[in-house]
Amino acid sequence: MNIILLGPPGAGKGTQATQLVDSRGMVQLSTGDMLRAAVKAGTPTGLKAKAVMEAGQLVSDDIVSGIIGEALDDLSTDTGVIFDGYPRTAAQAESLDEILSARGRTLHHVIELEVNEDALVERITGRFTCASCGEGYHDSFKLPKVAGICDRCGSTEFKRRPDDNEETVRTRMAEYRAKTAPILPIYEARGIVSRVDGMADMAHVSSAIASILDTSILDRPQA
Ligand code: AP5
Repeated sequence: MNIILLGPPGAGKGTQATQLVDSRGMVQLSTGDMLRAAVKAGTPTGLKAKAVMEAGQLVSDDIVSGIIGEALDDLSTDTGVIFDGYPRTAAQAESLDEILSARGRTLHHVIELEVNEDALVERITGRFTCASCGEGYHDSFKLPKVAGICDRCGSTEFKRRPDDNEETVRTRMAEYRAKTAPILPIYEARGIVSRVDGMADMAHVSSAIASILDTSILDRPQA
């Protein structure tokens, strides 16, 4: 099963993708994570992306569609994929169709996390992640069970993103409204969009997503 998680910055896409990786063995393809890895490694892609990301703007369509295509080439076609933060423009949505079809894949669901943007600034500015495994935490909503130790891998190193400041978050939200929200009708026309209340607590959001995915498995014709 291949799905897109869609929603503005801080909606919970990464949090829910991690849950699906753990619970269903799906693979998370986060263009944000891949670009941050490229920036850290100082690759040509990273050098091009760094300033754009720090300003909260969108990296070019060619770059992100290129890295998605390469990442899919490393996976067998029966591995379920969660697209987290991609596509973000109409051109990326068109590229994704081509990328999937060239690899014999189909898009099954687009799940939109509906959120109140005013609450997202607090979510994002309080966010931190494990520097080792990437597990996400929050100063108010999700602290490690034992202070200073990652629940998932036991690491004691944590980090915060350079673009998680209020000014950049506002630019990222404006980019979402202007360029990403308008792609939803493409998927609505195909009847594959489901909406989940992203303001509910994390466990409720996870179970709402699980029920969308499970219902569609039960609805499939049996061989
Ligand atoms: P990216 O890394 O994709 O960032 P984003 O879309 O801005 O999304 P975030 O990662 O900030 O939020 P999220 O929805 O994953 O929320 P999370 O689960 O972490 O992109 C960064 C940059 O890279 C872009 O600005 C752009 O420059 C570039 N880029 C990336 N992809 C691109 C593309 N396709 N095209 C062009 N450029 C691209 O949750 C946030 C916090 O809230 C966490 O602390 C979490 O613990 C907490 N939280 C989550 N859910 C809940 C809940 N239900 N209740 C309470 N707290 C919650």
